Amino acid sequence: MNFKDITAVVADDFNAVDAYITHHLNTNVPLIREIGEHIISGGGKRLRPLVGLLCARAYGYQGSQHIDIAAIIEFLHTATLLHDDVVDESDMRRGRPTANAVWGNAASVLVGDFLISRAFELLVKIRNFHVLDILSASTNVISEGEVLQMLNSRNPSTTEEQYMRVIHHKTAKMFESAAETGAVLMAQNDQEVAHIRGTLGAYGRHLGIAFQLVDDVLDYTGDAELLGKNVGDDLAEGKPTLPLIYAMREGTPQQAELIRQAILNSDVDKLDEVVTIVQKVGGLDYTQKAAEHQTQLAIDAISQLSHSSYKEALIHLAHQASQRKH
Ligand code: IPE
Ligand code: IPE
Ligand code: MG
Ligand code: MG
Repeated sequence: MNFKDITAVVADDFNAVDAYITHHLNTNVPLIREIGEHIISGGGKRLRPLVGLLCARAYGYQGSQHIDIAAIIEFLHTATLLHDDVVDESDMRRGRPTANAVWGNAASVLVGDFLISRAFELLVKIRNFHVLDILSASTNVISEGEVLQMLNSRNPSTTEEQYMRVIHHKTAKMFESAAETGAVLMAQNDQEVAHIRGTLGAYGRHLGIAFQLVDDVLDYTGDAELLGKNVGDDLAEGKPTLPLIYAMREGTPQQAELIRQAILNSDVDKLDEVVTIVQKVGGLDYTQKAAEHQTQLAIDAISQLSHSSYKEALIHLAHQASQRKH
């Protein structure tokens, strides 16, 4: 099962998410609409909505508010991308020039803010305190993740633990929330919320970690066209990701020193040499294996859920997170 087959399991809900997104991007400010459409119609895998829809259905939710929540989460995710591309000075996203490359940093930051505030405007209409609680907290955690990452940037001494903390905050938390919020609509008390967070939430968290670990492998090995974004960006930003952290730890002093310097100087001219060392020392394999371990943890987390096509799809999705090439 690839992403497409998995999406087909919730095809109607998935199409409804897209309709909701388009409808609620409305504003009387033309520039917001233009930038919003540019990034949203650029595609994107809509993975967080997919996780949310499948988890809600796998848990037995029969209503339709999980669609609104899934769309709102995509708004929040898209806002983080607008901001992230400014911070990372990236110029390609979803196979298109980034909004910052076309309209500049100020416009990207402000439209990102609009998407976040629109998301909360819509979220309030759901009238569910648990959902609001989960999503407001995770929006906060993502911001912390991006700031933590900034603090680690160009720091070759960043540890594996520090790196894992960053990817949990900047990426996994939103997957975790997407997994929880649909099912939480059904919860009658705090105990049920805790159960959902311990099962579906854990699924989302491990899936999200796997997803970002693979993202950090693909930044060295991926195909820019398939990914819709440039490769080599992480080194250009001096990001000490796990493949490099491992190679510095396990390589010879000379190998470690070359990578250290490349991170310190965000020296993308050293990309080929860095990739060769990282391959040789096994940093890419190590990161890939770590992703596969997280996939297994994600699957284990939902083992108690009763069998359904939705649960099957969630299992396939967890495998895709670590096997994906885009
Ligand atoms: C990009 O997320 C940011 C990361 C967490 C790596 P996606 O790869 O899900 O981006 P889109 O939404 O499909 O473009
Ligand atoms: C993901 O980080 C960004 C967020 C989750 C906010 P990256 O910077 O690694 O993602 P890409 O590579 O730009 O998609
Ligand atoms: Mg980035
Ligand atoms: Mg990246």
